[in-house]
Amino acid sequence: MARELLWWEKGVIYQVYPRSFQDSDGDGVGDLRGITDRLDYLLWLSVDILWLSPVFPSPMVDGGYDVRDYTDIDPRFGTLADFDALVTKAHRLGLKVLLDFVPNHTSEQHPWFCEARASRTNPRRHWYLWGDPAPGGGPPNNWISHFGGPAWTFDPQTGQYYGHSYLKEQPDLNWRNPEVQEAMHEVLRFWLQRGADGFRLDAIWNLIKDGQFRDNPPNPEYKSGEWPYKALIPRYSCDRPEIHPILHRMRQVVEAYGEKILVGEIYLPPERLVTYYGSAEKPELHLPHNFELLFTPWRAETVAATVERLAGLVPPGRWPAWVLGNHDRPRLASRVAPDQARVAAMLLLTLRGTPTIYNGDEIGMENVPIPQEQSQDPWEKNTPGLGLGRDRVRTPMQWNAARHAGFTTTIPWLPLAGDYRERNVAAQMRAGDSLLNLYRALIQLRRCEPALHKGAYETVAVTKSLYAFRRRHGAEEILLILNFGPDPFDFALDKGRILLSSHLDRGQESFCGQARLRGNEGVVIRPEEYGETKVQCHSEMTRAAVSDSRHRCGRCRIRRITALGG
Ligand code: GLC
Repeated sequence: MARELLWWEKGVIYQVYPRSFQDSDGDGVGDLRGITDRLDYLLWLSVDILWLSPVFPSPMVDGGYDVRDYTDIDPRFGTLADFDALVTKAHRLGLKVLLDFVPNHTSEQHPWFCEARASRTNPRRHWYLWGDPAPGGGPPNNWISHFGGPAWTFDPQTGQYYGHSYLKEQPDLNWRNPEVQEAMHEVLRFWLQRGADGFRLDAIWNLIKDGQFRDNPPNPEYKSGEWPYKALIPRYSCDRPEIHPILHRMRQVVEAYGEKILVGEIYLPPERLVTYYGSAEKPELHLPHNFELLFTPWRAETVAATVERLAGLVPPGRWPAWVLGNHDRPRLASRVAPDQARVAAMLLLTLRGTPTIYNGDEIGMENVPIPQEQSQDPWEKNTPGLGLGRDRVRTPMQWNAARHAGFTTTIPWLPLAGDYRERNVAAQMRAGDSLLNLYRALIQLRRCEPALHKGAYETVAVTKSLYAFRRRHGAEEILLILNFGPDPFDFALDKGRILLSSHLDRGQESFCGQARLRGNEGVVIRPEEYGETKVQCHSEMTRAAVSDSRHRCGRCRIRRITALGG
């Protein structure tokens, strides 16, 4: 890429889940002042962009994703003045701030919905989706809510059903209505004027539904016991073509305030995801979050295939956005296994595209089992036993070994992980070889090395347990070799220097010829003095690999990769 990268292309996003980050007023729930107090930590970690999950007034039926007022702060989190103070300090420290904008639905307690359900003739009636009962009774169609049960709830007072992609307490707005669009643009302007640098758009692929409310077809691959939403193919309830002009317009609204951005939550196959970049003439999202790695089995071959697939799909001139964890999905360290958390960090922070780190993943927080009686998440409550609950990934941040982990001075809103006395930020700041220090070193290296933050991506080699790729910018080149397995490998370059190992114990190690990669280790290498000729890969281990057509040794500069011990 010839032009200079923009802040959101070069930077690293850090997602803060406000309820669980830092409590400043002793009520057991995190808040804005707490986050402001912790901004120095973000500076130390060296991230660039802070994304705050919702902090707006809310009945909290869905953890704040049920907004009662789009232009205020929930008293649990503080005040507008606290928000202003947070943004002022963040900007002073050089951090950007993204807010979570929830456009698909409001809380049922939002005044707009209270008016809409008051009567069929209320001027706000068509700000939401209403449907008559089906001819024989029941909901207007077969759509299913993400959180289980029908996506329609009957309103006895007015005799119609209202639509909701999520909970019945989260009625869907009718984005076909220009008044809704304008009102929501005003919300964006409100926060942009207060200094927000952009928005993460919640559930954005659901924004527009079929105008005729047609039934979704059944999913022939659905197996009982799976997430009930998957029983249908959501052809008519999401990802409708009419969404694209709406997103283009939203982008115009934010860009009227300068270099402001839209990040999008989109759970769609990559071929559909990339349509949310929009066209060159009508751009839409800056960064559609790509969640494929959240669902890819953690093996070298599958991960490499996912990365390559997306690399081939992102339109020219547009920028990928990688995610390995968030407040809705199992903890990264639990998903990939704790031994692989370092390899995962190295992958996330060396791929081409903007990485997003979910708070706590940088210290390897794991899923925390939450007793049923303490569960808060409506998804868990509506679909018990399916393993969909999200409380386990939302437990309080583990700052230190003190009582309540330095998060609060009282009982926290969700139980702390049992391991907080050993696994915490303070301990990992002290330990030179900790996961936290690895995140920091990777972020800093990414910033310093043009090949890492803006270079082109190319797969070098993929075997059962090894994934090597290069990033190249002009004459500068960085090679990544990631070992997804427990066994060591030898590899050989003509000459190279290890800039960073995931174990943080071999910085600037030079080698000529052969070097060893330990089990579960990743290395960032600056290759030196290549021969001009293409080299051949020919070792015991690669005999197996060579028969694998995806092993690109013919093009690669790895001369030899040897599995030790057969
Ligand atoms: C998004 C949020 C999730 C929320 C849902 C409904 O998926 O990330 O937390 O429950 O939207 O707003």
